[in-house]
Amino acid sequence: MPTNVYVTEEELKKQEKIMKEIAEENKGKNLYYHIETYGCQMNVHDSEKLAGMLEEMGYKYTENLEQADVLLFNTCAVREHAEIRVLGRVSQMKELKARNPNLIIGVSGCMMQEKNVVEAIKEKYSYIDIVFGTHNIYKFPQLLWEALNSQDIVIDIIEDTKNVIEELPVKRDSNLKAWVNIIYGCNNFCTYCIVPYTRGREKSRKPEDIIAEVKELAQKGYKEITLLGQNVNSYGKDLDEDITFAKLLYRLNDIEGIERIRFMTSHPKDISDELIYAMRDLDKVCEHLHLPVQAGSNKILKKMNRKYTKEHYLEIIDKVRSNIPEISITTDIIVGFPGETEEDFLETLDLVERVRFDAAYTFIYSKRAGTVAANMPDQVDDAVKHERLERLIELQNKISLEKSAELRGKIVEVLIEGISKRDSNKLTSRTRTNKVVHFVGDESLIGKLANVKITETKAWTMQGELVEVIR
Ligand code: 5AD
Ligand code: SF4
Repeated sequence: MPTNVYVTEEELKKQEKIMKEIAEENKGKNLYYHIETYGCQMNVHDSEKLAGMLEEMGYKYTENLEQADVLLFNTCAVREHAEIRVLGRVSQMKELKARNPNLIIGVSGCMMQEKNVVEAIKEKYSYIDIVFGTHNIYKFPQLLWEALNSQDIVIDIIEDTKNVIEELPVKRDSNLKAWVNIIYGCNNFCTYCIVPYTRGREKSRKPEDIIAEVKELAQKGYKEITLLGQNVNSYGKDLDEDITFAKLLYRLNDIEGIERIRFMTSHPKDISDELIYAMRDLDKVCEHLHLPVQAGSNKILKKMNRKYTKEHYLEIIDKVRSNIPEISITTDIIVGFPGETEEDFLETLDLVERVRFDAAYTFIYSKRAGTVAANMPDQVDDAVKHERLERLIELQNKISLEKSAELRGKIVEVLIEGISKRDSNKLTSRTRTNKVVHFVGDESLIGKLANVKITETKAWTMQGELVEVIR
């Protein structure tokens, strides 16, 4: 069994030393950074780490791009459309650089793991200073140092690594809810997906490191953690010790101060009974499961290499609901995968009707160079893809509304997260099932758990009234 290699302390010390040197250099200079993040929660959390390092080096966050001295784009490669958008965005930065030649522009993330993207950047975006990928975020101080001290573009891409990096500084977006990586990479090779190529093979963090991080978060007053991984259910399979994802949940549930534990994403093929029972029995593990199904036709599921059938998926849902009746279930669905006929698509609609998801993230299949599906025959026509997407969204919206409406008049537990952006008299909060509830209440309640009565419902957000503060 492969054992993960940890970045040596020596290497991290080197980066720390560079951070201190840059901080020293930056003293009294009032420098700013801005980061634009695309894609999934992994990227959001990676950006929090980049922000953490930048703050250690004496940069302050700014919303204003014009004010920035370091500007980073943390990119996503999952769909082509998003790639085009981010390249368009980056090309707008040429002017900014012309006005402020000292500005450092960096691009990072999954797109940089694609060779053709890096080539294009070298050729067409010569004003970019730093290019780095998903495996070497910890080296950012060194790359920044090199960029500050040379005119050349600094490129540092590693194809894959067994490295698991611990103890990077993190500047978290919230002081209530925190993302915690538990496993990096993916071994599944769904045929449409570029992630195994950009994020590499599965690498679990050691349970002790995860527990130490969560204890520290609890001490700092964090109330909710979301465990992150492309496939959290694979957690521990690459470690020598006797640990599974469910066992990790048991250990995290014991940490005092943390009120709620969430996780994403799960792969249906790896949902174990042990995990379902852990979700049922552990008081802090919230009643929400994000379980991407991707398609309803067995033929398409097979071509996607998902390793389950529609019937198997429905069985899992039954088992989950019979153990945890109040659970909310969300999913990801792709329409227009190569070879998807109208009959296949009707199987997806049928599955959606049978499961009655609380919400679904719906995507049009996007051809990703290097993946198996990109070379499959019978690519679906764009107009057909769009038409299917609309039909799917229409059905799901109807179901989401109906599911939310079931909560009207009920009393539910929420964690109060802040002031509502829409209405400053109201607080915004989330149920254990991850639905948003707005209600009138005082700012001093932020961070508390409360019971609220649901009065009005939409598809995903609801209005309520405070019943009582729990703690
Ligand atoms: N095209 C469309 N959607 C995709 N996803 C992943 N790869 C592709 C692709 N090539 C979707 C899947 C996955 C979600 C994060 O993105 O539904 O679960
Ligand atoms: Fe991509 Fe499939 Fe891995 Fe999810 S499980 S990241 S869809 S390859």
